Amino acid sequence: MKVLVRLVVVVVVIAAAGLIFLYSGTYNVSAMVPHNKVTLWIINTLKDNSIEHRSDKITAPNDLNDSSLVRIGFVHYREMCQGCHGAPGIKPSEIGQGLYPHPPNLAHSAKEMPASELFWITKNGIKLTGMPSFGKTHSDDKIWAIVAFMEKLPYMTSDQYNEMNKLTKNESNM
Ligand code: HEC
Repeated sequence: MKVLVRLVVVVVVIAAAGLIFLYSGTYNVSAMVPHNKVTLWIINTLKDNSIEHRSDKITAPNDLNDSSLVRIGFVHYREMCQGCHGAPGIKPSEIGQGLYPHPPNLAHSAKEMPASELFWITKNGIKLTGMPSFGKTHSDDKIWAIVAFMEKLPYMTSDQYNEMNKLTKNESNM
């Protein structure tokens, strides 16, 4: 019985400490100050496992190398992604620079992540990060085109990006 009472006391004290912390305003939510290591570990572990689990059953279409698909993806990327993520030879905009977490360089992401994860993230977005969901406004076909383009990013120079920019200057993503 004594053990049970002690256990209840410990739980109540931890809960009270948690509530005091939540209401005290101690935690700094400023986007200019990074999370501490523990918070970061919790968020990243939750996020990485969620994305891995949810993209598990997605299979990419066979034609991700198709140049017309890559071209469609490029036009979408230029209009919707470049501002936050930047592009070969192009820095992120002021909005992109001010976001925390920072929008990563997608050339690195495309090397590290399978196409299924790139697709899932682009379609669903990521809560509380500034990464929007494009699934509300774009069909799966268009999102695969964006993925097809992202897969080319790691091998693309700024000259090649400029060239595509010129070639497609009158094309919009609608
Ligand atoms: C308003 C800013 C914003 C826009 C626009 C945006 N993103 Fe993001 N994106 C982010 C942020 C911030 C993150 C980082 C999220 C995190 O760290 O959990 C992110 C993360 C990602 C990731 C995960 C990369 C990784 O290495 O973890 C992918 C893939 C991605 N974005 C793709 C896209 C694509 C494709 C587009 C355009 C269709 C796009 N994003 C447009 C802000 C943006």
